Amino acid sequence: MKLLLLGSGGREHALAWKIAQSPKVEKLYIAPGNAGTATVGENVDLEENDFEAIKEFVINNKVDMVIVGPEVPLVKGITDYFANDPVLKNVSVIGPTQKGAELEGSKEFAKAFMQRHNIPTAKYKSFTRETINEAYDFLNTLEAPYVLKADGLCAGKGVLILPTLDEAKAELSNMLDGKFGEASGTVVIEEFLSGIECSVFVLSDGKHYKILPVAKDYKRIGDGDKGLNTGGMGSVSPVPFANDTYMKKVEERIIKPTIEGLLEENISYKGFIFLGLIKVDNEPMVIEYNVRMGDPETESVMLRIKSDLVSLFEGVAAGNLDEKTLEIDERTAVCVMLVSGGYPEAYVKGYPIQGINQVKNSTVFHAGTTFKNDQVVTNGGRVIAVSSYGKDKEEALMKSFESAEIINFDKKYYRHDIGFDL
Ligand code: AMP
Ligand code: GLY
Repeated sequence: MKLLLLGSGGREHALAWKIAQSPKVEKLYIAPGNAGTATVGENVDLEENDFEAIKEFVINNKVDMVIVGPEVPLVKGITDYFANDPVLKNVSVIGPTQKGAELEGSKEFAKAFMQRHNIPTAKYKSFTRETINEAYDFLNTLEAPYVLKADGLCAGKGVLILPTLDEAKAELSNMLDGKFGEASGTVVIEEFLSGIECSVFVLSDGKHYKILPVAKDYKRIGDGDKGLNTGGMGSVSPVPFANDTYMKKVEERIIKPTIEGLLEENISYKGFIFLGLIKVDNEPMVIEYNVRMGDPETESVMLRIKSDLVSLFEGVAAGNLDEKTLEIDERTAVCVMLVSGGYPEAYVKGYPIQGINQVKNSTVFHAGTTFKNDQVVTNGGRVIAVSSYGKDKEEALMKSFESAEIINFDKKYYRHDIGFDL
């Protein structure tokens, strides 16, 4: 088979690494990819949202399957674009239709969907400029802190948690006035939930599903979960509190109603569903849906999938995922993200990276890297994900930290406490 994976981050390198292990792969292209994906496939200089250019490439190179890494092409409707094109309609796309992608593309849609299907989530209401007075009334009924969410995609920045009512009202007004552009023209206000979070990944053919390894990510820049939010500083899989009892509840109360709800509403969904969950009094509740894999969770989750991922994708495309097996590695996998000093604020790109090939006890996934001549250089805030196995998280982390010291670039920084709360 010839496959094309869209995206360019650590998630995509981890997916490409796993896909490339399949004997079914004749050719793997990654668009646009990074210096790491170039070691497991062929990078193609295509932008992931340029559907016309992707179409031309897919036709010229006889690509059989397209796997969509990030959410934006899905929310823009790449799956529908393929399905509605007479030449592309037989190419499989792993990723939901535009309607399905609304689960991530519109918080209001996601909340209303959960309400329709009795899926446990925080109490909410959504508002626009016209209904701001009702929004103030609703805020008055809630207790601090206050959670405001821009309805649309904001690259992970659209959620504000405010400690006082006055700040909440002021920020609500800012959001409705375009703080996040069109994305915050509608704002979801919801009840604050307190608990520990985890990420549950489901692969579905629209009818059947497989639950992939559960992971937890660490979003703050500093040890102890202090400081600014980032795209993710590390991850651990499995998550001890997501034990059999907890996961049974997740499956019965969240996964099954989600798949059945999509079916009932005639929403075609062939791809990953990412459930951002929070444990409140031992019960799972949904914080958010995403319609893709998580980053940096994928960089530990892929290590724990023993089965052929391409075969699972074939099941997704054909609608017979129930006939496929998913075997999971019992070991723990962790990922420690090496980032550019200064990130998530201003940082410098273009520093040479040394030592990657000297790493023996970890798998190195590139997140923000590129080539300058033949030298791999930093090309983003999050640069390299160092992933390792262990009999437990301590052993896996020890390996990742040792490997993290072998890899060098100017102003390298990483967290030393990934998994501290598990
Ligand atoms: P989201 O963009 O929806 O993932 O939200 C970002 C983060 O905000 C989540 O990972 C949570 O940590 C936090 N968050 C979102 N909604 C709530 C809520 N209702 N209660 C408490 N924390 C929340
Ligand atoms: N790790 C969270 C996300 O990918 O959105």
